[in-house]
Amino acid sequence: MKESSLAAKTLWWRNSAIYQVYPRSFQDSNGDGEGDLRGVISRLGYLQELGIDAIWLSPFYRSPNKDGGYDVSDPRDVDPRFGSKQDAEALIHEAHNHGLRIIVDIVPNHFSTEHRWFQEALKSAPGSPERDRFHFYDGRGATGEIPPNNWNSIFGGPAWSRVIEKDGRPGQWYLHLFDSTQADLNWENVEVREDFEHTLRFWLDKGVDGFRIDVAHGLVKDEILKDHRDPEALSRALRLDVSGMSRYERESLMTDVPFFDREGVHDIYRQWRGILDSYDGERMSVAEAFVYPSARGSRYVRSDELHQIFNFDFLIAEWDAVTLKSAIDKTLNEVSVVGAPPTWVLCNHDSPRVATRLGGGAIGARKARAMALLIHALPGGIYIYQGEELGLEDATLPDEARQDPVFFRTKGADKGRDGARVPLPWNSSPSFGFTTGKPWLPIPEKWRNRDVESQKIGSESTLSMYKESLKIRSSHPALQPADNKDVSQSLKWLNAPEGVLIFRREPAFILIANTTDASQRLEISGDLMLASSAGIERLGESFLVPPHTTCWISARQ
Ligand code: NOJ
Repeated sequence: MKESSLAAKTLWWRNSAIYQVYPRSFQDSNGDGEGDLRGVISRLGYLQELGIDAIWLSPFYRSPNKDGGYDVSDPRDVDPRFGSKQDAEALIHEAHNHGLRIIVDIVPNHFSTEHRWFQEALKSAPGSPERDRFHFYDGRGATGEIPPNNWNSIFGGPAWSRVIEKDGRPGQWYLHLFDSTQADLNWENVEVREDFEHTLRFWLDKGVDGFRIDVAHGLVKDEILKDHRDPEALSRALRLDVSGMSRYERESLMTDVPFFDREGVHDIYRQWRGILDSYDGERMSVAEAFVYPSARGSRYVRSDELHQIFNFDFLIAEWDAVTLKSAIDKTLNEVSVVGAPPTWVLCNHDSPRVATRLGGGAIGARKARAMALLIHALPGGIYIYQGEELGLEDATLPDEARQDPVFFRTKGADKGRDGARVPLPWNSSPSFGFTTGKPWLPIPEKWRNRDVESQKIGSESTLSMYKESLKIRSSHPALQPADNKDVSQSLKWLNAPEGVLIFRREPAFILIANTTDASQRLEISGDLMLASSAGIERLGESFLVPPHTTCWISARQ
């Protein structure tokens, strides 16, 4: 495929299939045990065959790697662990030659404390322009020994660290909503704004097709010197890897977060949209903004702001008809108000893998496949986290192998996100074809028959199901973006027994999702196109759908 084939699909981001590559765990090309950009290039054929539209690459920028690269020390350079700038250019070029777009991460909430700016701030006096690029404040108490407020880091522990001033004495504190090596930037500062515009243009000039905006709701902080009523619970409510918190508790904490979803962020995105629109091609942006109530998320995708916002509902939803139907209706209604496409995400590098979250083992795998076929038939954009198409579960890791700052900052109370970040199994060689060296996280032996090569052979494999669903999704007339932009009108629910979802999209597409433990007999006339599990029986004008199964039917009328 040539680059021109990219231009042929207009408004591509309205129903895109975007595949998340976590470069450190995708494919190693030089035997150092960590994935790299050359490794991604070597697997473009695989991604093209899978049938996706674009790759979202998690950060590969210069970074001390204290938070998997989300601690950026130079956003306009490639970390040597991942390769060089030439490798990044080659990846963008080669991806386009494979008919694939490239979305890169941008991390505007914070810089690594190794960034030149932070190092300059450390050497400068309180109140200096160098400190003004971050949130430096004096502490409270007789000697400034108490942090400026009681906020907790989302990774656990306090959100403030104290620096040693030039005179050798403890001095001001700086804010870090995440690890202490990730200093929050002050978006009131003009230099910060200009620097990010420079970074956007830098990568747009290199040909990237868009950006995934990390912590997009976090850049502007209000009432920075005010304490929060329950900082510990708040930081847990904001983490998707934390379960065991009721939905009610989570939502009541998220209703008013002093450092998230403040009005000022929208000015920034209007500015950024202007930059994206000034480039040729259809460059897009997607916000990582976990806000509550979720209707507020639509504000990020107004027509002069960003293109998509991740919908987090399906990262926490159970495989249950009532929950799923209401999440779908809510999402479609919310985004249709502003004419934006919805997005559907089952997992990412911050959350448990979907097969694990839905129970693990055979049942988790079965429900995860059924959930995937459900979202693949919905209007809008879908995201696939690397390895999801193989039905992988989280790996169980020994504590000595863990690297996530969440594990360290919570003193092991939360295991963190490493289990979902284990390198991919490509074939049956000793290191699963990921590396010729020692993988940076151990790959579980039980993945031996789950690797890409093994799954290519079996037509019943999860990989085969993903390929087939993506193929139908991109070609079936009913699954194309609606012309009138009103996605809430693009599917119609049909009557269904308790625990079953049935919807129809025109022309002639019907989806049945049986979320119950029993087989269900359903009066539908048509032909089976695809199913998430074997065993669908057609009996005259009806189908018998096994438990926890989704199927796609080509309707007769
Ligand atoms: C969200 C990213 O997805 C996550 O991996 C990271 O730790 C935080 N933002 C902080 O950048």
